[in-house]
Amino acid sequence: MPEPILSPGSDPRGMIFIHPESFGDMENWHEIARELRRDAPILRVEAEGWTPFWAITRHEDVFEVSRRSDVFFNTEQSAPSPNITYEMLDMLGLEQPRTLVHLHGSEHDKYRKVTNDWFKPAAVKNLQAAIEQIADEYVEKLADMGGECDFAQDLAVPFAIRVIMTIFGVPRSDERFMMELTQGLFGSADPEYLGEFTDPLELVGSTISKFKDYFEALTAERRAHPTDDLATVLANGEVDGAPLGEAELLWYYIIVATAGHDTTSFSLSGGLEQLLAHPDQLQALRKDPALLGQATEEIIRWTSPVRSFFRWVQEDVELGGVLIPKGDVVLTSYPSANRDEDVFIDPMNFDIFRPDSDKLLSFGLGMHFCLGAQVARREVRTLLGKFLDRTASVELAGPAVYTPTHFVSGVKHLPISYKLK
Ligand code: HEM
Repeated sequence: MPEPILSPGSDPRGMIFIHPESFGDMENWHEIARELRRDAPILRVEAEGWTPFWAITRHEDVFEVSRRSDVFFNTEQSAPSPNITYEMLDMLGLEQPRTLVHLHGSEHDKYRKVTNDWFKPAAVKNLQAAIEQIADEYVEKLADMGGECDFAQDLAVPFAIRVIMTIFGVPRSDERFMMELTQGLFGSADPEYLGEFTDPLELVGSTISKFKDYFEALTAERRAHPTDDLATVLANGEVDGAPLGEAELLWYYIIVATAGHDTTSFSLSGGLEQLLAHPDQLQALRKDPALLGQATEEIIRWTSPVRSFFRWVQEDVELGGVLIPKGDVVLTSYPSANRDEDVFIDPMNFDIFRPDSDKLLSFGLGMHFCLGAQVARREVRTLLGKFLDRTASVELAGPAVYTPTHFVSGVKHLPISYKLK
């Protein structure tokens, strides 16, 4: 993937939205975003190989863009990426993305309906026992790891994958395969995940082909032998009285499989990193597990693992005092909106007691509001609760390492040492 290069005359700060490396140092990233909210909250960014866009950094404006789905549309290019990503899909003969976040209007609503019941609060509540069982299983692994581990890779990632696999109803033996697939898709700019490939784009192409083979086999199996899992709902789902199109079905699987675990595991590892940096808050949580719910909100505000989405402007519109013409593109910066000093008290401070964490925009808003928000919240508070319950003490055993990727990212390594109770 070529390094992004800004067009001459562009504000260099625009780089923070597209340069993967900028997400490797979030402290610096947030310093620049803070400046932008003050000086240029609607910033024109033009870079070689990218569709020019307006970076939206204030809470109020991200809120407005998300709410006004009559003006700001999702399209096949909703996930901010260099144009070559889309060209490459064509070259490889693969369909352009058609997941929920790439659909708009009534088409989106019809596809969302296929799984909506699965993700309603009452249905998600029924998953609690399974989530607890999986959390117990991973927390028990602490006993075998001899007092030191990488919380991100040893606990958060496999736990979140197991939960999503349980929802899908696919076998445990495919866990590692699914993990590699997701990292191939979202972490493709990170050299650690390149494996045999030299070019991240080849990795993305290969990853999508593998997803396709895997899910085609799963669909055939669930059509022949329906069960009560999400894979069965998707394989046998209908839109306008007909089965889901081949491309839509593939992309539906991909979004639930991928959006469902990297995001949550980044919140878990980034959350523990902050709790270790604030031992008084960690202690408070140990003493009073009833605080886990509000701690989870703060963790998800703070980590904001989905970094942005694109929306296409359908008519000339004024946003934050700037006229944005029809046909232009805006980028919603969730991590920046979540640190807006006009909305959050002392936003650069991690504080599980803050009264305003419910204003978080990490899950977006409006018709595309995260389908899995309730699952994610349950996962974070359950694993964290069990982890604190099982350990007598925990310390950071090395620096936290962030994934240098611009779309979904966070703490990928969190070395810790611990003593069990
Ligand atoms: C902390 C964890 C998570 C974060 C921060 C997150 C964030 C997001 C964001 C920002 C969006 C787009 C919202 C918008 O455009 O307004 C989204 C959409 C979505 N998320 Fe999540 N997500 C998380 C966990 C999950 C989980 C666990 C699942 C599945 C079990 C999931 C499935 C989806 C789906 C299917 C969509 C598309 C919804 C639509 O377009 O209608 N997410 N998520």
